[in-house]
Amino acid sequence: IALHDRETADRRDPGGAGHHGGAVAQEAARRRTFAVISHPDAGKSTLTEALALHAHAIGEAGAVHGKGNRRGVVSDWMEMEKDRGISITSAVLQFAYDGTVVNLLDTPGHADFSEDTYRVLAAVDAAVMLVDAAKGIEPQTFKLFEVCRARGVPVITVVNKWDRPGLDALAIMDELTTRIDLHPMPLTWPVGVAGDFHGVLDCATGEFVQFTRTPGGATEAITTRMSGDEAEQLLGSTWTDAVEEYDLLRSSGHAYDHELFLSGAASPVLFGSAVLNFGVRQLLDTLVALAPAPGARPDRSGAPRDVSAPFSGFVFKIQAGMDRAHRDRLAFVRVCSGHFTRGMVVTHADTGRPFTTKYAQSVFGRDRSTVDEAFPGDVIGLVNANALRVGDTLYADEKVAFPRIPLFAPEHFAVARAAVTGKQKQFRRGIEQLGEEGVVQVLHSDRRGAQAPVLAAVGPMQFDVAQHRMEHEFGSAIRLEPLGYSIARAVAAEAIPIVNSRSGAEVLTREDGLDVAVFADKWRLASVERDVPAGSFIPIFG
Ligand code: G4P
Repeated sequence: IALHDRETADRRDPGGAGHHGGAVAQEAARRRTFAVISHPDAGKSTLTEALALHAHAIGEAGAVHGKGNRRGVVSDWMEMEKDRGISITSAVLQFAYDGTVVNLLDTPGHADFSEDTYRVLAAVDAAVMLVDAAKGIEPQTFKLFEVCRARGVPVITVVNKWDRPGLDALAIMDELTTRIDLHPMPLTWPVGVAGDFHGVLDCATGEFVQFTRTPGGATEAITTRMSGDEAEQLLGSTWTDAVEEYDLLRSSGHAYDHELFLSGAASPVLFGSAVLNFGVRQLLDTLVALAPAPGARPDRSGAPRDVSAPFSGFVFKIQAGMDRAHRDRLAFVRVCSGHFTRGMVVTHADTGRPFTTKYAQSVFGRDRSTVDEAFPGDVIGLVNANALRVGDTLYADEKVAFPRIPLFAPEHFAVARAAVTGKQKQFRRGIEQLGEEGVVQVLHSDRRGAQAPVLAAVGPMQFDVAQHRMEHEFGSAIRLEPLGYSIARAVAAEAIPIVNSRSGAEVLTREDGLDVAVFADKWRLASVERDVPAGSFIPIFG
């Protein structure tokens, strides 16, 4: 199956002219780099398939990835993923659409791997928040949205599954406002209640976009545009009800405002059905028309790096052992500025060492192809980039270092020990690498010693991945002893001895040197807090 047709990825400016700033700025301007965030089961995999289908990257929906026995499970490359029918690792889907190069950064579906999603959100310019019409804002939607807000990532909202009975459309708008303080600005409005989906009102033109089901949604839904009058003749009150509802919203300040969207305070809203491939083209059109193109990115000192400056990018993800055929380590780099050409020698900002990029690839699921060039907004995979860690910067010519990606507060902790004695070297190497990849966070303390590092995770399934990989990839099976902590705070030096003297609490040191106090529960935290100077504990991002 031709998963994507990179050759046709509408590169109007191959090689040559791309070197000078103006051409790079042009290439950057036509890129849209985004991720889809949602609570599991809201339809993220289905939407990803549908997006690719609409971009004509894939012949038939179902080829990208999916669950259970859906065919062509391309991005579920680890055995564990297959066993559990979940998608753990992320991939990048690039396709051309309407003169634009779209980069869709896939994120894991399971909430236990949200740390991975957080890092992906550091590498996008916009996010699509998928909301299940029957469920509204769910816990994971909420958590991921908060990350977008903290990072200033503008969000487009898609209310999915309108083909099924669900909440009232106005009630969903209310949820956005009251639960996450996001001002909704519908671009389309559903015609027919959830479960009786006829199509949408195009809020900009007042036209009716009717949709006709295709069997199983396997190919693009058939849509017909007609005037409001025609729609009224066809549907009577179903149409006029929709128009009335939208008018209510518009007159109460919910018309589209671009500045509000870019500021993150408000979100354009679309209604659709990913499984029936309806609303997907509107989403693509919205991304092209409204989502921001890559812009100047601030470096560690806050100074912006213009997109047309020489090449720069940062690692947002490291992945290893993805596939038996490719047991290697791949660093995913988001390009921030300049024209990347394969083979160029760049500098690793953290060590000052040169780094060759001969083996640059693009990766989607199992499918890999060589990348010859890339522009701001694109993602490149660097093969066997053993020196690179998550958050590292690479640059050419003009020095730059981008801010590191914040590590999130873990909620699960376990001591790791080598199950077999005499494998200490493999054990240490494996644990270190898993830490660098961000599979788990690795913490140490003098008290526990080097043989017994503490692994910390946002979701407990990260431990399963660590255990699986330690055994199968690094040849050192591990035993994990859960620690009963659930809260982590950055801790000031003077409070460390006090924390360590208490039960249900201790201080551990993270790989990056941060001292982290961990507590069994909020009561232990509160009790220690009374005995240390105010401000000794600082919440960790996330
Ligand atoms: P996720 O990646 O966010 O976890 O969700 P996924 O796409 O796997 O979708 C979860 C379930 O919701 C799937 O059903 C999928 O078919 C269904 N779904 C997605 N979008 C829509 C939609 O617009 N309308 C309706 N009615 N259903 C939708 P499943 O039974 O779990 O899997 P399958 O057997 O259908 O593949």
